[in-house]
Amino acid sequence: MCSVVRDEPGNQEEGKIIARHLVKDYILKEKKGLFARGQKKVVHAVKDLSLEIPQGKITGVLGINGAGKTTTIRMLASIIAPTSGSLTMNGVDAVKKHLWVKERINVISGGERNLYWRLTAKENLRYFGSLYGLSGASLNEKIADLLETVGLEEAADIPVERYSKGMKQRLQIARGLINDPEYLFMDEPTLGLDIVIAKEIRRLVQELAKEKKKGILLTTHYIREAEELCDYIYVLDKGEIIAQGTREELKELFMYKPQLLIQVKPSDDQEYLALLKEEGEKTADEHVLNLLMKHQIQVEGLSVQEPELEEVLMKIISQPDRRSQ
Ligand SMILES: Nc1ncnc2c1ncn2[C@@H]1O[C@H](COP(=O)(O)OP(=O)(O)O)[C@@H](O)[C@H]1O
Ligand SMILES: [Mg+2]
Repeated sequence: MCSVVRDEPGNQEEGKIIARHLVKDYILKEKKGLFARGQKKVVHAVKDLSLEIPQGKITGVLGINGAGKTTTIRMLASIIAPTSGSLTMNGVDAVKKHLWVKERINVISGGERNLYWRLTAKENLRYFGSLYGLSGASLNEKIADLLETVGLEEAADIPVERYSKGMKQRLQIARGLINDPEYLFMDEPTLGLDIVIAKEIRRLVQELAKEKKKGILLTTHYIREAEELCDYIYVLDKGEIIAQGTREELKELFMYKPQLLIQVKPSDDQEYLALLKEEGEKTADEHVLNLLMKHQIQVEGLSVQEPELEEVLMKIISQPDRRSQ
């Protein structure tokens, strides 16, 4: 389960971002009265984070709100400096050479920020391309390519304000690809999107890793999304990685099954209630259904419930032997 720490430079650092023992403290100054000294409060947003992002793969960081996902992305993307720890990209020190790094990465956040609503997709991309020093025919060609990649050719000349949420998110992805980055950081890319659109975005993310060989880091608080997309997943809680592994390894660690909720009429039959409890704890749902039929109990409702990420995390935290170091 634990990844091997490799310190020797060379080939093993090629084609990946490697973070070692990253720490980020935010220092908040609380203003008191006019003469009272402001109290300092330290938020330990990321405590000791080591991870790798290889090209051609999707690496997931899974965690509830406040776990430190966005802080992690902001450090990896050189938007904020780590308090301590080391960060390399293709073997180059990313903290020292952050301008070099910025040319090779891009960040896509969920939501609708970073786009100019009055401008069309083409105009937006032309603007963002110019920030990377791109212009002329080569930029136009790139824009046409990107619009095709994200499936927005037909909407290319429509102002973004008339786009659906899914179209805006696809344009965000095109914007994130304008500098042809080697690594792409996606902060909750499907947040707030409906199921169909989220699925479309996931397919696009998969294509970017598998076909365009981008190294993708994706944060999410959806277990299913991490399992569906990610080749390797880090589970972050309170700024620390509490588990990591391939999706198969984590599925085993999460050990959750969707719960079948069967709603029945209240009953006073103690024998039946005891049996129901016993059967309900067994894995096979048909036991319960057989029992209901035998006692001619009318089912009032059926539903399948996915577990909350919080629940699954609690289970991991309460199994100290299975935590990664
Ligand atoms: N700019 C900031 N200043 C102070 N505290 C922050 C700042 N950004 C995030 N935090 C705090 O750091 C912790 C991690 O936040 P964040 O990285 O945004 O988590 P996530 O993206 O997983 O929800 C939270 O306790 C949050 O309140
Ligand atoms: Mg966040």
